[in-house]
Amino acid sequence: MDLSTSLGRLSLKNPIMTASGTFGYAREMQGVVDVSKLGAVVPKTITAEPRIGNKPWRTVETAAGLLNAIGLDNDGVDAFLQHHLPYLRETGTSVVVSLAGRSESDFVSLAERVGAESGVSALELNLSCPNVSGGVDFGTNAESCRKVVEASRSVTETPIFAKLTPNVTSIAEIAQGAADGGADAVCLINTVLGIVVDWKRQKPMLGNGMGGLSGPAIKPIALRCVHQVAQAVDIPIIGIGGISNIDDVMQFLVTGASAVQIGTANYYDPKISTKLVDQLPDALSELGLERIKDCINTLHPSR
Ligand SMILES: Cc1cc2nc3c(=O)[nH]c(=O)nc-3n(C[C@H](O)[C@H](O)[C@H](O)COP(=O)(O)O)c2cc1C
Repeated sequence: MDLSTSLGRLSLKNPIMTASGTFGYAREMQGVVDVSKLGAVVPKTITAEPRIGNKPWRTVETAAGLLNAIGLDNDGVDAFLQHHLPYLRETGTSVVVSLAGRSESDFVSLAERVGAESGVSALELNLSCPNVSGGVDFGTNAESCRKVVEASRSVTETPIFAKLTPNVTSIAEIAQGAADGGADAVCLINTVLGIVVDWKRQKPMLGNGMGGLSGPAIKPIALRCVHQVAQAVDIPIIGIGGISNIDDVMQFLVTGASAVQIGTANYYDPKISTKLVDQLPDALSELGLERIKDCINTLHPSR
């Protein structure tokens, strides 16, 4: 069986990746997960300076989901390059580094600096975090999205992915902006804006008020986004949102994703992503196929 897949200029040994913010910097999974089996890992988004994130509560469980407002709590780029990247380089898997900034020049300087490092397979521009001001604007306007991708692309040879928010009217237009800017792939989706209320205290539960919904509750929204972009835009898609079993993985691949990222499911089963790698050959056999690439974007039109 050939499990390999292509994301523009980047080839992965299989299509199973972990999603940013749900797998730490991978070191946290040492001894629990055989990271070398994965197609790629995406560590927590990093910013130019360390950030402490939002005040508590920062996560609340919902029906079939999780609402979070972490606020990009991260160690900052200096600590990432000094302490985390050397570890990540030795994991035996592709490392896709997630970056965020408040301005275009933040993204550009991070892309230039991190893109020049050995052992970085791709950069994922987080244009979609709903919990901090700044970055989300790049993902809600096609022209801003194009510009930030193009500017980041101009300072590095490393492949660039644009991670987009579903909190827009036309995800296909934004994805086209990313493609026009030269993105190698788009990642769909980040979390869906939501709110959970404690009616007795008459307050939102999250310290930040609003947060981002993830987990099985958002899977149909994520699949819809993958479907719309696959119909309209000619670059590879990485599907994300509510994936927790092999049927979910196959649904995303057939709908048009060339790879998938596993997020919230890591919290209730840290080994889930490696289990999914093991389950891919049997799922492919059910379609009578031997290559992952042959099942991507094979959805028939609805009757
Ligand atoms: C606690 C938490 C923290 C997250 N942090 C980040 C982050 O730092 N950067 C990012 O791009 N996405 C972040 N995400 C979004 C996930 O990467 C993913 O896009 C989203 O959760 C949908 O996938 P899922 O339903 O499989 O979790 C975070 C999600 C959760 C639940």
